Amino acid sequence: QHIACIFDLDGVLVDTAVYHYQAWKQLANSLGFDFAHAQNEQLKGISRMHSLDKILKWGGVEKSEAEKEALATLKNSWYVAMISKMTEAEVLPGSLKLLQDLKDQGIKIALGSASKNSGLILERTNLAHFFDAIVDGNTVSASKPDPEVFVKAAELLGALNKDCVVFEDAQAGVQAAIAAGMAIVGIGNAENLQGAQLVINDLSEITIAEISALKK
Ligand code: G6P
Ligand code: MG
Repeated sequence: QHIACIFDLDGVLVDTAVYHYQAWKQLANSLGFDFAHAQNEQLKGISRMHSLDKILKWGGVEKSEAEKEALATLKNSWYVAMISKMTEAEVLPGSLKLLQDLKDQGIKIALGSASKNSGLILERTNLAHFFDAIVDGNTVSASKPDPEVFVKAAELLGALNKDCVVFEDAQAGVQAAIAAGMAIVGIGNAENLQGAQLVINDLSEITIAEISALKK
């Protein structure tokens, strides 16, 4: 049986979700409002512009397209300043071992992320060499929950959708993987990952045998 693994980046392999949250919060505060940590769940997995649209709505603020471009650029400049200082220490527990085990067993590995900053993050955390294919915010046109990112990743790996297992920390990502007909391992709180076959706290809690068993 030929399984292939597709990993989301932010919140699955690396601890960047907290930086996205800090930068968006700073932007909202600069516009005179705030949003709750619980609302941040809704920003996970979706593109920069979709995140901004949601946040402006929460604040009851309307902006022109040009102003939105400028705000998204500002948020990203703060975010990039944070991730530029990342180190290997910010790779989440279990990520390195699982990626290495998969590689040792010849199982193909792809990245399926909405981020346009994935290159910088993979470089800073020294993870880039694990990937046989990288699909991110620079290569997809439709944002999760659209399945495009995972379908493209499977294509690049030469794998059938049904043979792929997706690792996701966002509800939008779980929906995208369901739409692609793939198996899903959720990372985090089951409440926010409805439809995942299995939910774990981090990648240290799963083995290749358990991943393969999901495909029956
Ligand atoms: C990931 C994160 C989202 C983020 C998106 C775009 O999916 O979970 O919170 O909005 O990437 O990231 P970017 O780095 O391109 O702004
Ligand atoms: Mg994520």
